[in-house]
Amino acid sequence: MHLPLTLAGRLPAASPDNARLLKRGERLLEPDVYVTCLHDVPTVMKDYGRYRRTMLAPVARLLVRREARTLRRLRGWAHAPVLLGIVGGLALAMEFVPGQPLGTEAQVDDETFRRLRGAVAHLHANGITHNDLHPANVMVDGDRVVLLDFTASLRLPRWMRNAPLLRELRRGDLANAFKIEQRLTGRAPGEYLSTVLADPRWVTAVRDGWKRLYRRLRSR
Ligand SMILES: Nc1ncnc2c1ncn2[C@@H]1O[C@H](COP(=O)(O)OP(=O)(O)OP(=O)(O)O)[C@@H](O)[C@H]1O
Ligand SMILES: [Mg+2]
Repeated sequence: MHLPLTLAGRLPAASPDNARLLKRGERLLEPDVYVTCLHDVPTVMKDYGRYRRTMLAPVARLLVRREARTLRRLRGWAHAPVLLGIVGGLALAMEFVPGQPLGTEAQVDDETFRRLRGAVAHLHANGITHNDLHPANVMVDGDRVVLLDFTASLRLPRWMRNAPLLRELRRGDLANAFKIEQRLTGRAPGEYLSTVLADPRWVTAVRDGWKRLYRRLRSR
């Protein structure tokens, strides 16, 4: 899909009233995601507007800017939505990708999984990790596999790309791609791949600690 890049930077304010809701933001710092029409182009808005005039507004703005920065870097790549711009600081506007989230179609063919792994490998080759790969963040539109939701993505400068943390994040992305495949096909990766993709013990410890802290914070 080709969108006029000149749209970026001068987007009109979108009104959620004439929009189709894709996902309502319910948890902390989750945006409302809806499809609307800007300049006659179907557009997805990721909108953190409910945080306007709250203490969390700067964090929401930061999330919007981070995701926009990643999408800007990926412009021209078929496996990410085209960035259209930022609206009012708290909403990200991007190309609407038609199709279905991965796994909602009864049968997913091997080629789709191959494209998904290829897309993840391409991201990594460009120094970017996604960090939130799960079926709802992967759209399948015929032959096109599109990764969505780059809020948690990370890009480090070239000289840091072999840092243990980044290697872990790359491994995590690949492990998630294989987990998706296993969940949807029932096919487990071979023994060697399973060993390579398994979490090292220190990662499991850090992640479990973080989950406990996160749950405690949310239950307050
Ligand atoms: N560009 C797009 N085209 C089509 N559908 C989209 C697009 N972006 C998002 N969606 C749909 O909206 C859903 C929610 O979007 P997204 O994953 O970006 O938000 P989120 O998970 O709430 O965000 P976050 O993880 O940043 O809190 C996606 O799972 C997908 O179904
Ligand atoms: Mg998501």
